[in-house]
Amino acid sequence: MKQVALLSDFTNSPFKTIKGKDRPILLIKENERIHAVDNRCPHMGFPLNKGTINNGILTCHWHHARFDARSGCAFDLFADDIPSYDVKVEGEVVLLSEVPRNKPTASYYKDRLHQGLEQNISIIIYKSIVGLLQLKVSHLEIIREIAEFGSLNHENWSNGMTLLAITINLWPELQENTRVMALCKAARQVAINCHRQPSRRKFHLLEGSKFDSQQLTVWFRHWVRTRHRDGVERTLLTQLAHGDNAALSDMLFGALHDRVYSNVGHNVDSTNKAIELCFSFEEEAASQILPLVTVAITQARGEEENSAWSHPIDLIPIIKVSEKTLKTIWKKDTQFSEASFSKFRDLLLGEDPQAIVDEMINLCRGKADPKCIAKEIAYVAALRLAQFPESNDIADWFAPVHTFNFANAVYQTIVRHNSLQSVRGLLPAALSVFQDRYLNIPSVALPNPSEKLIELFRNNSNWYHNLMDTLNEKQSWRIFPERVIAAYRAGRSLTELIDGLAAAVLREDFDFHKLQSVEAGAVQVKLWRGRMEVEHILAGVARHIAAHAPTPRGESKMINIARRLQRGQKLYEEDSPLDSP
Ligand code: FES
Repeated sequence: MKQVALLSDFTNSPFKTIKGKDRPILLIKENERIHAVDNRCPHMGFPLNKGTINNGILTCHWHHARFDARSGCAFDLFADDIPSYDVKVEGEVVLLSEVPRNKPTASYYKDRLHQGLEQNISIIIYKSIVGLLQLKVSHLEIIREIAEFGSLNHENWSNGMTLLAITINLWPELQENTRVMALCKAARQVAINCHRQPSRRKFHLLEGSKFDSQQLTVWFRHWVRTRHRDGVERTLLTQLAHGDNAALSDMLFGALHDRVYSNVGHNVDSTNKAIELCFSFEEEAASQILPLVTVAITQARGEEENSAWSHPIDLIPIIKVSEKTLKTIWKKDTQFSEASFSKFRDLLLGEDPQAIVDEMINLCRGKADPKCIAKEIAYVAALRLAQFPESNDIADWFAPVHTFNFANAVYQTIVRHNSLQSVRGLLPAALSVFQDRYLNIPSVALPNPSEKLIELFRNNSNWYHNLMDTLNEKQSWRIFPERVIAAYRAGRSLTELIDGLAAAVLREDFDFHKLQSVEAGAVQVKLWRGRMEVEHILAGVARHIAAHAPTPRGESKMINIARRLQRGQKLYEEDSPLDSP
């Protein structure tokens, strides 16, 4: 313990602030006792010496959080507890311990994370995550905690769970700051999704003899068609217990594609994300997490139930007939061969849906790899984004974004398991690109930055800030994609640019679609390395981000406050000058 003050220092005020080892500390005299706490309010860092003490209750007047001055525990849970210190008084001298009373451990932060998720309190969630990462707890372990919470506390797969899966996928591409942002935002979204929701009912698999996978698949598709959610879930759990991932994939995506492009493609994408999330963890995670998709799968509406895909050309029979043809030509162990996709690309951008699917069937007949067909569709979907005109309504952006994300999900499902059921997704993906055609009139020119602009991003350590600053202004639709392409041509790596795009999304108050499209972009650009298509995909993602930026950036400010609080940094310049002990 170290001498830090004299009792006479408190003659005129109950407070004295001193410089602690790694943070400012507030000494409080109350009823002849001295207490010591971190001087930064755990809520948003306001200096507590500007608060008041009364009857042992320390009040921060910024948002009126109240704390027990002795222990630092909060009476108002939104604020979190304040780290407190042991104090001893020897005669006139006040002695202080150099370290807080409860040095936070990983299990302390995990408990706090749970409390933050249960109470949906952002600052507690963020501080717990920052604390866990500081203690070198792996992101997968943290995400597993959050995913488990989500699996128990709401009925339906939600955008928070999608963000968790995206965070895992993007993690290797991201810088430390962007990683923290991604993880915090995903966790908060799970908390929001679960807030005031009933706990999940526990279902059980079908008991008895070992069930045949094919029989389960037939039942599953039947229950989905007849919208019988309990039947769907019990059948899914039984299939899961078999441990046959190929059969599981066929069962899920077969049923999903029975409804055309259901819920504007979200169902295929979220089921794909659920599988990715489950496969990131140990086996039993799947039986906890995957059933969350059953509500959406059961309730989904396909485009055959809407009118948009029926006029002026009815696309549903085109899809249904082509599916039958696909079934006759699909061979399990096909050796795929090289194919030319230039005609297919032109048709995708054209006006004839029958010609699009006919060419796709021709490609399949010629043993073209379905992955390559999916890659081509995803590219054209990104091209639509890159050429999206400002004359459209702001909400119109979501149609081509849904198509791009859906096409990428179809690509990923085929990569994981190349089968008839996953390949069926190519048909709605291609026809969704066709459906978006009116939104590309007139088409905007693709970005082509000047040499001068490219030079600005070459050997420029400030390139990242130059890029980000562009998004501080509204209507940077043209400037931001142009700068992203300039940075790419100046030699910035794809990893740097993906991190930049993710950081640009995460500092805004966007919903999950933007990060979803960054992730889809990250997957697709790598498939076109060294080709012009890379620029077009980057431009598409960048243009979509720029269309909706800037926002108030409230959540990212809170995450930064959490990080500064955890690092012991001062948050407000108006802190009173600190006395050196
Ligand atoms: S209550 Fe103290 S900063 Fe909000």
